Amino acid sequence: MASSMEAQRKSLPIYSARDRLIREIKTNPCCIVVGETGSGKTTQIPQYLHETGLSKKGLIGITQPRRVAAISIATRVAKEQSVSLGAEVGYAVRFEDCTGPSTKIKYQTDGLLLREAIQDPLLSRYSVVILDEAHERTVHTDVLFGVIKGAQKERRERHIKLLRIVIMSATLDTSSYSNYFNNAKVLYIQGRQYHVNVYYTLKPQSDYIHSAITTVLQLHGEEESGENGDILVFLTGQDEIESMLHTLIQCKSLFPSHWKDMMVLPLFSALPSAQQQKVFQKPPPNTRKVILSTNIAETSLTLSGVKYVIDTGMVKGRGYNPLMGLDLLLVQPISKAQARQRLGRAGRESEGYCYRLYTEESFLQLEENTVPEIQRCNLSSVLLQLLAMGIKDILSFEFMDQPPEESLIAALEELVLLKAVNKEENGEETLELTPLGQRMSSFPLSPSLSSCLLASVDYDCVVELVTLVSLLSVDTVLYTPTDGREKADLARMKFFCPEGDHLLLMKIHKAYQTSNEKKSWCHDNYIHARNMSTVQDIRKQLKEICRQNSLQLTSNNDGERLRKTLLCGFFRNVAEHVRDGKYLTVLSRQEVFIHPSSCLFSVTPPPPFVMYTELVHTTKCYMRMVSVIDPKWLFEIAPNYFHKTMTTNMIQD
Ligand code: CDP
Ligand code: MG
Repeated sequence: MASSMEAQRKSLPIYSARDRLIREIKTNPCCIVVGETGSGKTTQIPQYLHETGLSKKGLIGITQPRRVAAISIATRVAKEQSVSLGAEVGYAVRFEDCTGPSTKIKYQTDGLLLREAIQDPLLSRYSVVILDEAHERTVHTDVLFGVIKGAQKERRERHIKLLRIVIMSATLDTSSYSNYFNNAKVLYIQGRQYHVNVYYTLKPQSDYIHSAITTVLQLHGEEESGENGDILVFLTGQDEIESMLHTLIQCKSLFPSHWKDMMVLPLFSALPSAQQQKVFQKPPPNTRKVILSTNIAETSLTLSGVKYVIDTGMVKGRGYNPLMGLDLLLVQPISKAQARQRLGRAGRESEGYCYRLYTEESFLQLEENTVPEIQRCNLSSVLLQLLAMGIKDILSFEFMDQPPEESLIAALEELVLLKAVNKEENGEETLELTPLGQRMSSFPLSPSLSSCLLASVDYDCVVELVTLVSLLSVDTVLYTPTDGREKADLARMKFFCPEGDHLLLMKIHKAYQTSNEKKSWCHDNYIHARNMSTVQDIRKQLKEICRQNSLQLTSNNDGERLRKTLLCGFFRNVAEHVRDGKYLTVLSRQEVFIHPSSCLFSVTPPPPFVMYTELVHTTKCYMRMVSVIDPKWLFEIAPNYFHKTMTTNMIQD
C-alpha cells in the first residue's frame, strides 16, 4: 500500500521538479508556482516542504477556496504520508477543525485563514503560507494577498522568523502577481496535456440542461464504453445537478439493457464526503462514469479517466449591487480562461473531446479573465475583519485589485447601521470598531447574522437565535426531490407557520430534536438529514463562541420576539406588498417576489410587510427566507434608519 502510494507520488509530473522547487522556495521569500491541474501542486508541494524540514519552525498552511477541496486533499495527503487525518496532516474549515498539536501540514479554506489572522495578524504559527487556486480570485484570497504580504514585512522588521509565501495556480497572469509580491520568483511546472478536440453548437441553445442531457446520451450511445471514456459535465449548482441526475437515471431505466453501464455521479460542495469520494474511484468494468459537477472540477479537484467534457458555459457566481444593497447569486457566463480550463480536463490521459454548448461566436465574446470576486460582492464581512485585525486605513490597504469605492462605502454604511463601527468625522474620517463590532467579528458569520445573534442578548433568546442562525447557515434543511415536490410539500404541511419561514424552521428543528429515530424522521418528513446534523454541529460551536464572549444562554421562544430579534440584523431587508404578489423593498424600491419555496408563497392575501434573509435572482428577484413583520417594529428597532424613509402605508394605522 505505502509503496504503491510512493510510486504514485513519484509518477506525478511535479516530481521531476522537486529539488528545484525546494531550493527556490527556500531561497525566495515569495514564489509563484504555475502548473496544469493534476500536475501535483496541491498535494505534493506541502509535503516536499515538510520533508525538507520547513515545518520544524511552524505550520505549513495551504488555503483552498472550497471546503470540499480542503477536506478531500487533506485526506489524500494524510494517506500519502501514512498518518491519520488530523495528526501531522489536518484540515480546518468553517465549523470544523480537524487538526491537532502534532499537525504540520494544514489545509484550510481561505476564509478560515483570514479569520485566524484576526487573532494573530502576523500569522506567527506559520512558517509557510501557500495560497492555492489563486486564479479563482475569491474575495478571501484577495484579502489574504494583502494580509500575508503585510505580515511578512512586519515579521521581517521585527526580526521574527521569516514567513514564506507561495502563490499557486493553474493559470495565472503571472506578471501582475509577481509585481505585487515584490518581483517574486515565478516557477513553471510542466504538466501533461494531450490534444483536445473542441466542438461548438451551431446555434445558441435556449436550454443548456436539455442540450447537456442530449449530448451525454448521444456520446454514451455512440462511443464505445469500457475504453476509459468518462464524461464530465459542468453545470452551475446543486439543483441543476440533481435534476439532470434524475433525468439521466430515468433514461437509464427506460433502456435497461442499453444504458446499464452508465454510472451517474454528482459533485458539488455540499455533497457528503463519502459520496464525493465515489467520483475518484474506478468504475466497475464496462461502466462509464458521467460526472455532473459545478466548477469545483474546473481546477481544484483532479478526476482521472475523463475523456469527454461537456461545458455549458455557465457558472454560478456572486453578484452585488452596492447601490441597492443587494447581494445576489447569479448564473452567468464563464470567462475564456475558465472555458480553456474546463476543456483541459478532457486531455489529461489521452486525446480528449470538449463539447461547448454555445457557439464559437459567443465564446469569442466572453471576458478574457474572471472578474475578481472582490469587485462584485458585498464587502461588509471583509471590512469588519480587516478592522478587527487593526487595519483602520482601509483606503490605503494594498489590494491587488482595488474593490469599487461604492462597495467599500456601502459596506461601511452597513457596519455603521449595525453599530459595529463608529464613524467619527472630526476633520479626518477615522473608523473605530465598537465593542459590539469586536464581538461580531468573533463569530464566523455575516455581519447581519452575528448582529441579530448579539441582539438576542437584549431579547433574552440567545439559545433560539443560535438555533435559527445555525439553520440559516446551511444550504437548506428542506429536502425536495425533483419528482416529489407535492409529496414533500404535503408531508411538511404540518410545520406550516403563518408567520413565515423562520418560525417554520424553528418548528421543524424542535420536532427533529424530540424525535427518537432522527434518520427515519427526516426521511418521512422530507428533511435533509445530513444538513440537519450539520446544524447541530454549528449550534454547538456558536454556543461555545457565546460562552467565550460571556454571553448568557437565555431562552424564550415567543415567535414575535424571535422575528424582532432577527429584524435587528436584517432591518434593511424589508419589503412592502404593492399588488398581485409584487413587493417593493422599503428603501431601494426594488421589485421583489416571494420565492415559490417559501411557506408564504401562496398565502392570500399576501402579507403587507415582510422581511427576508436571502435574496436570489433567477428570472426575477426572489426573497427566499421570508417572515411576516409588523412595520411598527421597524421604528422600534431602527428608528433613525426608518424615520426618513417611511412609506405612506407604514404611517397609516
Ligand atoms: O494541484 P494540482 O492540480 O497540480 O494536482 P493535485 O491536486 O496535487 O493532484 C495530483 C494527483 O493526486 C492527481 O492526479 C490525483 O490523481 C491525485 N489525487 C487523488 O488521488 N485524490 C485527491 N483527493 C487529490 C489528488
Ligand atoms: Mg491544485
